[in-house]
This record gives sequence, C-alpha cells and structure tokens, in this order.
Amino acid sequence: MNHLLSIEELNGPIIEALLADALRLKAARGHHETPLTGQTWAMLFTKSSTRTRVSFEVGIHELGGNPMFLSKNDIQLGRGEPIQDTARVLGRMVHGAVIRTFDQADVVDFARLSGIPTVNALTDEEHPCQILADLMTVKELSGGWQGKKIAFIGDGFSNMTVSWMWAAKHLGFALHVACPPAYSPSRGFLDNLDAANVVITHDAATAARDAAVINTDVWLSMGQEDQKEKEQAFGPFQVNAALLKHAATGHIVLHCLPAYREKEITAEVLEKHAATIFQQAENRLHVQKAILVAIANNT
Ligand code: CP
Ligand code: NVA
Repeated sequence: MNHLLSIEELNGPIIEALLADALRLKAARGHHETPLTGQTWAMLFTKSSTRTRVSFEVGIHELGGNPMFLSKNDIQLGRGEPIQDTARVLGRMVHGAVIRTFDQADVVDFARLSGIPTVNALTDEEHPCQILADLMTVKELSGGWQGKKIAFIGDGFSNMTVSWMWAAKHLGFALHVACPPAYSPSRGFLDNLDAANVVITHDAATAARDAAVINTDVWLSMGQEDQKEKEQAFGPFQVNAALLKHAATGHIVLHCLPAYREKEITAEVLEKHAATIFQQAENRLHVQKAILVAIANNT
C-alpha cells in the first residue's frame, strides 16, 4: 500500500488484512516492530482533532518515527500558500504525510505532487481511518459482520456514511442508512456505488430493526456549524433508548466522537455504551499503526 486516500479505493481482502494486523499490533503493543525508524511524518491539519491527532502522533512514535504536527495556522498554508506547493516542499523533506482537511481533491493532489505516502485523516468526503477502527470494533465485539445488519442513523451523505457505504460494498454486509430525505446520498453516488446491500430509508426504526450495530455521528460536520436549518431536519434521527428497542438482542452502539449529547445521541445511551464507544476510539491507534506498517512494508 502506498497511500490510504479513501475506503472507496480499497477492497475486501485489503480491509481484512489491515484489521488482522491491527489486532496483532494491539496485542503486541510495546513489543512490536518499528518500521518507521529514522522517518519523520508530517501531520497537516486544517480542521480540529482530538482522537486522530493523538492516535497518529502516538502511533508514529510507537513505530519508531517522528510525528511533526503542522496546523494550517502555523504554516503558510493558512496564509494562502496552495496545498500543491506545500506538497512539493514537504515531499522533499519528510517521509510521509497524514492530512485532515476539507476537500478530498487536496489530499489526492498532495499524494500525487509530494511523491510521499499520504493518509487521509478525514476530508468532507471520507473518513477511512475511522471506518477501519469501527470495523475492527465490530469484529472484536460482535464477531464480525457476516449475516448481520448494520444501521447508520443520521446524516446520509457525510464523510462517515460515504466511507461506511464503500465498506459495505467491499465487504458485503447489509448497511441500512436512516437519514432525512434532504440529507440522503445523491442518486449519482448511489449509482456509482452500485451496492444492493446498501439500503437508504427515512425511518430510523426501520433501519434499527434487528440491527446488530447501531452507528451514528454528529448532525453538523466540521465546517457546517452555521447550518442550523440542517440540524432541524434530524430530530427523528436521534439514537435513544426508544430507538434501540428495535435493535437486535446484544446490539452494540458506535459513535466516532465527538458526541453532542441530546442531539444525535442521548447521554443515557452514550453512557450505557461507553465501553464500546471508547474502545472504538482506542482502536484508531491500532488500525492506523496497521496502515502505517502496510505503507512502510509496501504490502
Ligand atoms: N473521530 C475523530 O476523528 O475524532 P477527532 O475529530 O477528535 O480526530
Ligand atoms: N462527520 C464528522 C466526523 C467527525 C470525526 C465531521 O466531519 O465533523
């Protein structure tokens, strides 16, 4: 693997291999290989982050490398220097880059122009590292997704749902997305996805019925904070105790965090499922180390 730019560009065997290695690295934490020894990795962030920043900084360090955090406000990117120029500078100095930004095209351009391994740490279009951590958590706690229904309740066309829909396409599990009609995946996206196992509904209970996994995310993603009219459409798409009554016995609840209590999830549900949700957050570290190892070994 040279880059991780999206879930779209992966396939089932690559995802399975990354998850197997993430489980291995999790078990071997503190006594595994250090393939990034002597390398410096830039972490270029133009959006806020707690989990992604910390897990990549720790992960790069644990693999022997040196993480260099570059907030857009600290470098000339924040004063208008194009990402294309930043890419050609960093590509001559560091060994790899982890990028969180708005436009997916910027990450793709960076990978092409820098010539160094590039990892998408969230764009408006995809959040591949998060979905791999989510799948790892499903594997650990539900024994995998074979024959199970997974529900995503919330924004139907966010970076999270897009990445989950591609994961469902590659892995074949039944993914039911419940979202307001105005925040559904576009017809063009669904035609391109071409996955009969991805079902879109506008009724949260229908999606949740008999689901083994109930997944949600913020209603307003980063950069959408002012879209109050968007938020108003999501009232019926809250993950709460009443909704979970429809889910399968033994279901798990996932939230990529940060969570807004009493918006997309109630405090009661979040606290009841906190062990799962914080395990999911921890798994960011392990799965991202597996991504970096795959890049370092070009496997
Ligand atoms: N889930 C996630 O990506 O969290 P951060 O925004 O804190 O990195
Ligand atoms: N959809 C959210 C995910 C945060 C991790 C956002 O983009 O803000």
